[in-house]
Amino acid sequence: MKLGILKETQIGEKRVSLSPFITKKLIEKGFEILVEQDAGINSSYKNGAYTDVGATIQNREKVFEDSQVLIKINPFNKEDLKLVHKRHILMSQLYHKSSPELIKSIADKGATAFSMDAMPRISRAQDMDVLSSQNNLAGYKAVILGAYEMTKIFPLMMTAAGTITPSRVLIYGVGVAGLQAIATAKRLGAVVEATDIRTETKEQVESLGAKFISVEDNKEESEGGYAKEASEEYVQKQKEAVNKSLFQADLVITTANIPGKKAPMLITKEQVFQMKNGAVIIDLAASQGGNCEVSKINEKVEVNGVKVIGTTIAPESVSTNASELYAKNIYNFIIHLTEDLNFKWDLEEEITDETLIVQEGVQRKK
Ligand code: NAI
Repeated sequence: MKLGILKETQIGEKRVSLSPFITKKLIEKGFEILVEQDAGINSSYKNGAYTDVGATIQNREKVFEDSQVLIKINPFNKEDLKLVHKRHILMSQLYHKSSPELIKSIADKGATAFSMDAMPRISRAQDMDVLSSQNNLAGYKAVILGAYEMTKIFPLMMTAAGTITPSRVLIYGVGVAGLQAIATAKRLGAVVEATDIRTETKEQVESLGAKFISVEDNKEESEGGYAKEASEEYVQKQKEAVNKSLFQADLVITTANIPGKKAPMLITKEQVFQMKNGAVIIDLAASQGGNCEVSKINEKVEVNGVKVIGTTIAPESVSTNASELYAKNIYNFIIHLTEDLNFKWDLEEEITDETLIVQEGVQRKK
């Protein structure tokens, strides 16, 4: 089976969907790998790193022409689709619920498509979960970005010239990114607090040595590990519970999301006005509308001395690690879906069923 690795064309994207290490592992399993020229160059993988392990470097058209499976990170775009044929099996993040036109275009081509972001949140799918592997790095990078923007250091420091008190970090949303942000900020010596609508996260927060801010009488329920939209009553109570910490915080990292919905608005402009001068907010939910009222995607805005940074680019900024992890997810997924180098098409099986969005031109999921 020939797998084609395409160079990502989205502006700002530096990752590649397969690393040379995983390419080698797939070749050892009997797969043939075609890599588009310079696909890995922005992740520090030269073309030679792929040829050294047995892959072939080709131009874009040839990769499309010769591959059965085409692999990417970002959704296939209009330019890609011009080269897609009926026999192709596409594998990338597709965000099918919010991209009906893309899915229709793939179906119109008669092709087949798996969406990596549609992976079910079950324990046996954990090692194929790209949202998890990438968001983990995003959580780490958000803290580093915050540290760079802050005018203070994280740890307690006792020096001959005096004692520096530790910075206070507040995290909204304790999913994959939030947990890693807590762990990273703790390692750097900050005093860390966190809150989440899912009460089951309290134990996880405390096990990392941070303080969980509980919202009084929280009756909100989660669904399949994900949060549901919060009631107005909850949002109000959350503000009351968190405001004291918010107004003392030096760094705030927001990661709260609800799948398929706009991100919940957790910090209003009015609250930003009450924050400390010099505080920094890193809004990782910016692409979903943001958790902070004043954040703008890929921009740094300053409101009353508070820097608010809306960002989505974190995994790209550590592209070598992000590509390694994405590649490992792809490897596990391909091994799961195939037997003796052929797809099993076991539609009764949950991982296959959830991720197979289009099959030979027929749209399976909306
Ligand atoms: P996410 O990116 O959808 O959301 C981030 C966090 O925001 C969540 O913890 C959510 O509860 C929180 N949130 C939403 N609305 C909020 C509000 N109004 N106020 C405060 N917090 C709010 O979540 P992510 O990172 O995708 O993880 C969701 C869950 O799935 C986690 O429990 C994670 O451990 C689990 N998971 C399971 C996997 C598996 O079993 N295969 C793989 C990856 C994650």
